[in-house]
Amino acid sequence: MADATFPRKPDHPIDDLFLTRWSPRAFTGEQIPVETLMSLFEAARWSPSSYNSQPWRFVWARRGTPIFETFLGLLTGSNPEWCRDAAALVLVASSKTMSVPGKDEPVPSRTHSYDTGAAWMAIALQAHLLGWATHGMIGFDYDRAAAVIGLPAGFHLDAALAIGKQGDPAKLSDGLRSRESPNARKPMAESVFEGRFPG
Ligand SMILES: Cc1cc2nc3c(=O)[nH]c(=O)nc-3n(C[C@H](O)[C@H](O)[C@H](O)COP(=O)(O)O)c2cc1C
Repeated sequence: MADATFPRKPDHPIDDLFLTRWSPRAFTGEQIPVETLMSLFEAARWSPSSYNSQPWRFVWARRGTPIFETFLGLLTGSNPEWCRDAAALVLVASSKTMSVPGKDEPVPSRTHSYDTGAAWMAIALQAHLLGWATHGMIGFDYDRAAAVIGLPAGFHLDAALAIGKQGDPAKLSDGLRSRESPNARKPMAESVFEGRFPG
């Protein structure tokens, strides 16, 4: 529950869920049960998508397994530092084509990443509801990751994400610790327009 001291304040009323989900970097190192992980992917499964094409694919690795170490080795920048204590790492891909009624062959999908973004947000919110934190990542070696997961032709590698139990910021390096709090947003007037872009 967001109390009066919580730094995020909406300009319009929304459910606390949207405000209190944020992306920490300090994780405890707690293992996530496979069943819990599957609940997160189940939430993603029910996401909307163009023609119900369900273009998302999630390739996961749980902490304590060789593939987790391999995924960790794909991360760049400061990501390997704080992901060491994550419970799971996930690579997220999407199919660039989809089957549509009345066509014999798959057609290009304009919205494969858009749909997959909706699915990742379902994971983030379901995780939050279950007491787990998520953190999206672009900082990894996309080419090596594609090879590691055997990304099939016709698929796009979208992003990665870390899942973990939120931990003590004291364990982070100074630079990361100073950023370890829910951040703000641009005013809505910069992203929401009636009828037409301004200007
Ligand atoms: C697709 C995507 C890629 C991201 N890449 C990284 C990353 O590589 N490293 C990182 O520390 N944070 C990364 N982030 C986290 C964003 O910086 C964060 O979501 C944003 O600042 C909003 O903060 P919040 O998620 O706490 O609300 C990424 C988020 C998304 C959705």
